[in-house]
Amino acid sequence: MSVKTEISRRRTFGIVSHPDAGKTTLTEKLLLYGGAIQEAGAVKSNKIKKGATSDFMEIERQRGISVATSVMGFEYQGKKINILDTPGHQDFAEDTYRTLTAVDSVIVVIDVAKGVEAQTEKLVEVCRMRDTPVIVFINKLDREGKDAYDLLDEIEEKLGLSVCPLSWPIGMGQDFIGVYNIWEKNLQLYTEQKKQKIGDSIEITDVMGDEIEQYIGEDYAQNLREELELVTGVYPDFNKDDYLSGAISPVFFGSALNNFGVRELLNCFVEIAPSPLPKPTDEKIINPHDSSFSGFIFKIHANMDPKHRDRLAFLKIVSGTFQRNTNYYHVRLNKSLKFSNPTAFMASKKSVVNEAFPGDIIGLHDTGNFRIGDTLTEGEHIEFKGIPSFSPEHFRFINNADPMKAKQLNKGIDQLMDEGVAQLFTLESNGRKIIGTVGALQYEVIQYRLEHEYGAKCSYENYPAYKACWIESGDDEQLEEFKKLKFRYLAQDKFSQLVFLADSSFSLNMAQEKFDKIKFHFKSEF
Ligand code: G4P
Repeated sequence: MSVKTEISRRRTFGIVSHPDAGKTTLTEKLLLYGGAIQEAGAVKSNKIKKGATSDFMEIERQRGISVATSVMGFEYQGKKINILDTPGHQDFAEDTYRTLTAVDSVIVVIDVAKGVEAQTEKLVEVCRMRDTPVIVFINKLDREGKDAYDLLDEIEEKLGLSVCPLSWPIGMGQDFIGVYNIWEKNLQLYTEQKKQKIGDSIEITDVMGDEIEQYIGEDYAQNLREELELVTGVYPDFNKDDYLSGAISPVFFGSALNNFGVRELLNCFVEIAPSPLPKPTDEKIINPHDSSFSGFIFKIHANMDPKHRDRLAFLKIVSGTFQRNTNYYHVRLNKSLKFSNPTAFMASKKSVVNEAFPGDIIGLHDTGNFRIGDTLTEGEHIEFKGIPSFSPEHFRFINNADPMKAKQLNKGIDQLMDEGVAQLFTLESNGRKIIGTVGALQYEVIQYRLEHEYGAKCSYENYPAYKACWIESGDDEQLEEFKKLKFRYLAQDKFSQLVFLADSSFSLNMAQEKFDKIKFHFKSEF
């Protein structure tokens, strides 16, 4: 197969949802269709259950599972599909944001009864920032839920997506009898007996005619015809370019648990979802078809075994062909690296791979060379953009609790930050270290891992910050004045960028008003 064909048959995407909407179930059903797993239950949910937050064995167990399910590759209809797993727990949202930098499209799962939930809003906002193509799957149609039109309104309003239904539910909950597939013009009937089987779909030549009545009866048929008329009138026609540019989002209805509507989703997905997309660097845009290899690290996973401190760095290939045992250029460190055991992921199995193509994710064993966002090339000095850090929600001083282990503590903090577990800010005024996180859970994870993997002990102290703002200034004089006035609140992030740790929204507003030539960003890339 030519490299060109390899690239164009790849579909690398992520599934995002609020916890419990059905992401794990849908992933599992997609793998079943792809023949990658044989039975349901093979994909373990990697969510951290409520109440288990202080159970460190649980966290470790989850870390083990999430290595196995980080990337699940399978073949379907000649396409090579890579599903990138995203953590459901909101405390790990930053992980999910970063994973979204490595996907070419996204499927959003929404619970028909709950509608759009908070976590989904945040994640889709990140997709919209990058114009990532989005398909929506409305799940759990076997249960009573919201009216389809109301749900679509909610999606448009809360997620800012323009929707285009490509399937339409007939009934719901107790009365759910199936979906009409607008995309393939066929009918899929749902009955209790067929639950775990994949029923055949019934071709309907003209859904507006009488033909459909023999399958769903006159009343449902009449209702469906009216609803479809409304759908055609209200929503835009499907147009692939609009989907690819993020302007419209196709919507499917189904029930992942009952294997219903999943095949329709997958069939449409393989046809319309984008193959690997070009990606910007600080210098130029890299096209997947460029012959020279390039890729970036979007995730780092520590080894479960504390005796072996090697880690697995996840590389997304952007262009060219990656070859095993070949020297590549690590741009940030300005050094050459060779990988003898690069890992490919097929379903939940790992294997050593000799070559990989744009769209693929490979795991590289790392002894501390990589940091999230690092670029590998064949020698070019380019760095991929678009892996920003977002302002954390929580801030705490980290103190050394065992003076004999200062070196271990610093090394541990450094490596955990490279992994992206949390963000480190160093105060300009006194050099004290502040850890910023999305959720409180990370503090426990850090403390536990510092002790078990690095033999260091830490304690925390609250730091009353409201937001971290990355500072950009076009006016040196104003910046100097700002630095003088806000000296106590200034810190450097890991990349030595200047950050203002505003203590309240009030003081941030005041600073924004007073220093009008300074830009305050809530993310590290601008
Ligand atoms: P998540 O990864 O998004 O967090 O969700 P997950 O797939 O784990 O699904 C959350 C719960 O919703 C699970 O039930 C799952 O069985 C159920 N579910 C998923 N899809 C459907 C569906 O189409 N219809 C119905 N009725 N339920 C669905 P659970 O009781 O929390 O877990 P389990 O004990 O079944 O594993």
